[in-house]
Amino acid sequence: MKLWGGRFEKGPAELFEQFSGSLDFDRELLEADILGAKAYASALEQVGILAEDEKERIHEAFDKILIESSAADFFEGAADEDIHTLVIRKLGEKAGDLAEKIHTGRSRNEQVATDFRIWVRKQIRSAQQRLAGVMEALLEFARREPAALLPGYTHLRRAQPILWSHYLLAYFEMFSRDWERFGAAYRSADVLPLGSGALAGSGFPFDRQAMADELGFARVSGNSLDAVSDRDFALDFLYAASVTMLHLSRLGEDWILYSSDEFGFLEMGEEVTSGSSLMPQKKNPDALELVRGKTGRVSGHLLSLMMTLKGLPLAYNRDLQEDKEPVFDTAAQLAGSLEITRLVIETTKVNAGAMETAADEGWSCATALAELLARKGVAFHRAHQIV
Ligand code: ARG
Repeated sequence: MKLWGGRFEKGPAELFEQFSGSLDFDRELLEADILGAKAYASALEQVGILAEDEKERIHEAFDKILIESSAADFFEGAADEDIHTLVIRKLGEKAGDLAEKIHTGRSRNEQVATDFRIWVRKQIRSAQQRLAGVMEALLEFARREPAALLPGYTHLRRAQPILWSHYLLAYFEMFSRDWERFGAAYRSADVLPLGSGALAGSGFPFDRQAMADELGFARVSGNSLDAVSDRDFALDFLYAASVTMLHLSRLGEDWILYSSDEFGFLEMGEEVTSGSSLMPQKKNPDALELVRGKTGRVSGHLLSLMMTLKGLPLAYNRDLQEDKEPVFDTAAQLAGSLEITRLVIETTKVNAGAMETAADEGWSCATALAELLARKGVAFHRAHQIV
């Protein structure tokens, strides 16, 4: 089904339909689209386009569609252009001619912006929850091993002895900043574009604050041209996700090294390591290698959306359909990476003996000795030379 066509004599080429259709991926927005459409139906009642019982029937039909959507065959045979079209077709199947009214004064441009914000907001909350899980696991590890020592490194050369718990809490700090960064991305997504029309605003006197309240948005957008073409919130999410992945990748790199025979500080659990098809003795840190690998992919998604946006004239352009896959994939890779990292942390054990021996060797207490001399009255520069 299509939501347009009156001015066309020929239909689109099948090649063009395949090329431009987005249902394969934007089905991810189904729930958000229904939530947005329900709020829009309420607004249509408020301006007198729908009678109260008509709005009720539309709301009930949407609730049923949402329940039915968990069935495995829900999308089977669907040839709709996008998720917005599919939802209206399903509404027609339930509410008959009433479905003809739901799109009154509405554009898919404002609709997709609204859906995407609802979706991103939800993903941000899940990311924050998973991030909190990783932070919890770090704290728990620090409590499990409060006294283990290891050499701290600069330039990957032994520098000064530190506590393992001190090391773990460095990552705790990074992840707490990530948590804040996701909070900022949430605030950027928490703005309602609905009521902006295709670009020029709505021809109906909607109470936009009421729509925002119904959808739980903190604010309404201030400029309709901006609202339909703004994807800053998606960039903010991708940036927060990219930095989080970068931190996960750094932890991964450390632990891949620390669990090698050369270091021998950590023993990773069998739950998160793999063997080799050829070399029987191998136990490889594949989980953390994949996290490190996916970090490039996620930063690539941030760059990809920036490039999509950089030359767009105001307001909506179909290029914007390319905003979704990078964001969807980022959310999936981030969720997987946070969960697996948490499991790695929970199942890794320290080899406190090897760590402490390494902390003892290589003159890593030289700084402490120089400071001891300084405390006895030797000028530090001189003490440095003596040591
Ligand atoms: N699939 C489109 C997107 O993701 C929905 C909006 C289509 N609007 C339009 N004017 N063609 O951006």
